[in-house]
Amino acid sequence: MASKILGIFLFLLVASSTAKDDTFTFNGFRGTNFRLDGATYVNPDGLLLVTDTVREKMGHAFYPSPFQFRSSRGGKILSFSSTFVFAMVSQFTEVSGCGLAFVVSATTNLSAVLPDQYIGLFNKENNGNSSNHVLAIELDTLQNLEFGDIDGNHVGIDINSLTSVSARTASYYDSTTNQFKKLSLASGQAMQVWVDYEGDDMILNVTLSPVETPKPNQPLLSSIVNLSNVVSDSMYVGFTSANAAFFTAHCVLGWSFKMNGTAPAIDYKKLPPVPQFKTSGRSRKLAIWLTVASTLLVVLASGVVVFVRRRTKYAELLEDWEREYGPHRFSYKDLFKATNGFKVKELLGIGGFGMVYRGVLPTSNIQVAVKRVSHDSKQGMKEFVAEIVSIGQLRHRNVVQLLGYCRRKGELLLVYDYMPNASLDKFLHERSKPTLTWAQRFRIIKGVASGLLYLHEDWEQVVIHRDIKASNVLLDSEMNGRLGDFGLARLYEHGSVPQTTHVVGTIGYIAPELGRTGKATTATDVFAYGAFLLEVACGRRPIESKSEQMVLVDWVLENWKKGSVLATCDPRLREEFSVAEMELVLKLGLLCSHPLPAARPGMRQVMQFLDGDAAFPELTPAYLNFSILSLLEKEGFDDYIMSFPSTMATMSAVSGAM
Ligand SMILES: *[C@@H]1O[C@H](CO)[C@@H](O)[C@H](O)[C@H]1NC(C)=O
Ligand SMILES: *[C@@H]1O[C@H](CO)[C@@H](O)[C@H](O)[C@H]1NC(C)=O
Ligand SMILES: *[C@@H]1O[C@H](CO)[C@@H](O)[C@H](O)[C@H]1NC(C)=O
Ligand SMILES: *[C@@H]1O[C@H](CO)[C@@H](O)[C@H](O)[C@H]1NC(C)=O
Ligand SMILES: *[C@@H]1O[C@H](CO)[C@@H](O)[C@H](O)[C@H]1NC(C)=O
Repeated sequence: MASKILGIFLFLLVASSTAKDDTFTFNGFRGTNFRLDGATYVNPDGLLLVTDTVREKMGHAFYPSPFQFRSSRGGKILSFSSTFVFAMVSQFTEVSGCGLAFVVSATTNLSAVLPDQYIGLFNKENNGNSSNHVLAIELDTLQNLEFGDIDGNHVGIDINSLTSVSARTASYYDSTTNQFKKLSLASGQAMQVWVDYEGDDMILNVTLSPVETPKPNQPLLSSIVNLSNVVSDSMYVGFTSANAAFFTAHCVLGWSFKMNGTAPAIDYKKLPPVPQFKTSGRSRKLAIWLTVASTLLVVLASGVVVFVRRRTKYAELLEDWEREYGPHRFSYKDLFKATNGFKVKELLGIGGFGMVYRGVLPTSNIQVAVKRVSHDSKQGMKEFVAEIVSIGQLRHRNVVQLLGYCRRKGELLLVYDYMPNASLDKFLHERSKPTLTWAQRFRIIKGVASGLLYLHEDWEQVVIHRDIKASNVLLDSEMNGRLGDFGLARLYEHGSVPQTTHVVGTIGYIAPELGRTGKATTATDVFAYGAFLLEVACGRRPIESKSEQMVLVDWVLENWKKGSVLATCDPRLREEFSVAEMELVLKLGLLCSHPLPAARPGMRQVMQFLDGDAAFPELTPAYLNFSILSLLEKEGFDDYIMSFPSTMATMSAVSGAM
């Protein structure tokens, strides 16, 4: 009872503060009572971090009380104006999170939205729905073709949807040259945005500039936007942001807002500092100071600066407990040199865990692939490194050899054997690559089974791969399939990478029980292997959502029940395959994909079926009476399936960078 009264009292307190004032200014956010959720917080400097580089993937910050956006109830839309200073600071200069948006929303309850490409604004059901009542100005740093994004560095006006009504590459008008100059949103530099809406003419202007320069006299975007169906009587204003595979700190330094007038100016002197991940700033200052000293000193000191720079450039983390792993340890300097300083040119690919670079080791001339994984070094690192080193002892011709590792602040580097033919999924799904023959595919299928059997049963301890899929099957120079990337999923489970609340795996390969128990087993690996078999035989991804969601297992199963299972095989094979082998692979795929873990075969059995050493059991319709789609829906998989970084979004980040 008492708490109820207190609740009502608090409610009145909040309610009484609504929209009495039609303006606010925050030069820093210390002591504010904003509505924050998810990853969002205010740091001791007063910086509003809508998302940062270690916490959850998305967050929201709203001014606590709503504003009347209409002159009277149901009346005309008022003008409003807002300006804010922001910075996006990434751990890696090449890639960033998804972006930040200024939001005008009817509700602050955005609990049903998704991170990644949805930047914490919508989800796949409500994106585009006019009952959202959301106006957003997106500062988008990831090109998403699904929403028609023009590039990976743009500003857009979004109305109830992530498909912008108007968008333009980030730039600002420079009146001295009368030209727009490009800005890189995720550069780590502070920038200012002005959002001005003129209610009578329905003109919405969005202006961008580097911080502390006067407002450019031409907006970046100027659009006629009829907000009468978007804006409810009272609306909240705030920010949203999200990260995907890479974590960026999306910060707001200062913000002002005014209804029916011009937003007050921001006092730059009072703004909190932009966070720094790089240490080079200090040595630069040092260099500047030294130029005023005598020539001799300068010569001496520049030596020091070079030394300091080198030190920070090649700085590593090496703790006492790692000494015993010495032989497995690579120096960062060597990896830096091997990959030409992690040049974009050397980028082999990018996935959920990090970017992979090609390199040649300086002394041995061995070709390697170096994977950079961002991590929070404090938690679970010891166990993880122990595991990496033990994984490094695995030797099998269908397993990609892990050669060693290196640790830096916030980053882990893994060094693997270089696989010249990249990953299998490219051959299956990219039209630019030649089609693999059935003989090649069948050999890869057997190779992967053999590698997985080794991990599950033939090595000294059971190794669960946790993320079997076509993109983790790499092809060596002879087109043998080799399992890569195992154990990395463990990094997530040890909690050393954010997103620990998510089950690790990839959509379409995750066994139904994994969602319930969260526990990876050899049987969950077998499930993923089943999805992989069907993917290789049918040339289709386990789940396709082009028009409507198609679950490959269900589709093959339906065809098998109708007696037309061969109709599901990849048309690019032009029917050039052994019918017996194809049928075996399809049926084995179904068997491995059984929703009951106990009904799936073990890898030794799988190997025997593939080698023809054991007769394949007769599958009865009753036995295979399931639908993975309905199971997944029942397990409530949708949320985290959709929140796992989509390869499409991350791939476009690379093509943007190249
Ligand atoms: C908006 O501002 C104009 C002039 O600045 C004023 O005449 C008008 O009454 C204001 N409207 C509201 C609803 O405050
Ligand atoms: C927020 O919305 C969700 C549904 O989207 C609902 O389940 C939840 O109760 C709401 N929370 C509050 C505090 O209104
Ligand atoms: C839009 O959202 C409303 C309310 O959530 C829902 O009733 C309606 O079916 C949705 N419309 C579409 C086209 O999805
Ligand atoms: C929007 O920009 C146009 C073009 O520069 C300008 O004429 C107009 O006054 C601006 N409107 C607002 C509300 O800033
Ligand atoms: C704005 O949209 C509303 C609702 O669709 C419509 O009634 C109104 O005529 C529109 N205003 C203008 C100027 O087009």
